[in-house]
Amino acid sequence: MRITIVGCGSIGSKLAMAADEMAEVKRIYLTDIIPGLAEGLAAKMKKAIVIDNVEEELYHCDLVIESATQDAAKQILPKVVSRGVDIMVMSVGALVDDEFRESVMQKASECEAKIYIPSGAVCGTDGLRSSSVGELEEVELITTKGPKSLQNVEYVISEGIDVDKVTEKTVIYSGPAREAVKDFPKNVNVAATVSLLGIGFDRTKVTIVLDPDTHSNSHELKIKGEFGEMDCHTYNVPSPDNPKTSYLAAMSAISALKRIVRNEWIGI
Ligand SMILES: NC(=O)c1ccc[n+]([C@@H]2O[C@H](COP(=O)([O-])OP(=O)(O)OC[C@H]3O[C@@H](n4cnc5c(N)ncnc54)[C@H](O)[C@@H]3O)[C@@H](O)[C@H]2O)c1
Repeated sequence: MRITIVGCGSIGSKLAMAADEMAEVKRIYLTDIIPGLAEGLAAKMKKAIVIDNVEEELYHCDLVIESATQDAAKQILPKVVSRGVDIMVMSVGALVDDEFRESVMQKASECEAKIYIPSGAVCGTDGLRSSSVGELEEVELITTKGPKSLQNVEYVISEGIDVDKVTEKTVIYSGPAREAVKDFPKNVNVAATVSLLGIGFDRTKVTIVLDPDTHSNSHELKIKGEFGEMDCHTYNVPSPDNPKTSYLAAMSAISALKRIVRNEWIGI
């Protein structure tokens, strides 16, 4: 299999190094808008070739992995799927816009391209996927963040909350995922993945808690439905090279790639 990685930052670089060790991956095309970044990464790898943009080797590529930004995802998704090439998307927030998402999904279906969205920084998506086959009454994502992660967030400032003066765990937002992804853009990927998988952006409830004593992001996914009830907690460690990204997100991308290249779908 030949893959293209768009974005060689925290997730992209870990994924590239892992893919370099996968026997099933024969060629890895790398691209990044920061000059020299893809070249520096390629120099540490055996199977990498640097390209200027995703279109350059699309004809020779079986799977594109977007690990860049929402803007990049919005630009490349239509181009990739309309060429019938599969794509893994990490910047899931790109799919919040209903019109854009539906048009991309439609194009992918017409052109027989698959869109893969890894579970990312949250666990419990397997149970959510299964349980959504039946009736779901409630899906709630409770995200707990430290003051650093909520500094300079416009919504928090507009509510008159000074994150450095909060001394105990405080709920700072509770409402539909659709509003949460607008007001808390850094939380968008997990909320978007959960909403897409379950009951959508309007029925999924998101609660954001500020905990003055934590430095990491944790997620609690609570689901109630025909199947019973589920409560999954993820206590994330930040990536050493990008504290905004949970380490689990890169691991999730690597494990998704392993499943795709090996065609092994255990516990899906
Ligand atoms: N799904 C999840 O749970 C989850 C979790 C964490 C992060 N993410 C998302 O994954 C993406 C990557 O995260 P990261 O921590 O690796 O970010 P990062 O900032 O470490 O790396 C992103 C890289 O993409 C490059 N880039 C930006 N625009 C580009 C473009 N148009 N073409 C090519 N390269 C481009 C940047 O120069 C940078 O090197 C982000 O959008 C992030 O929000 C998703």
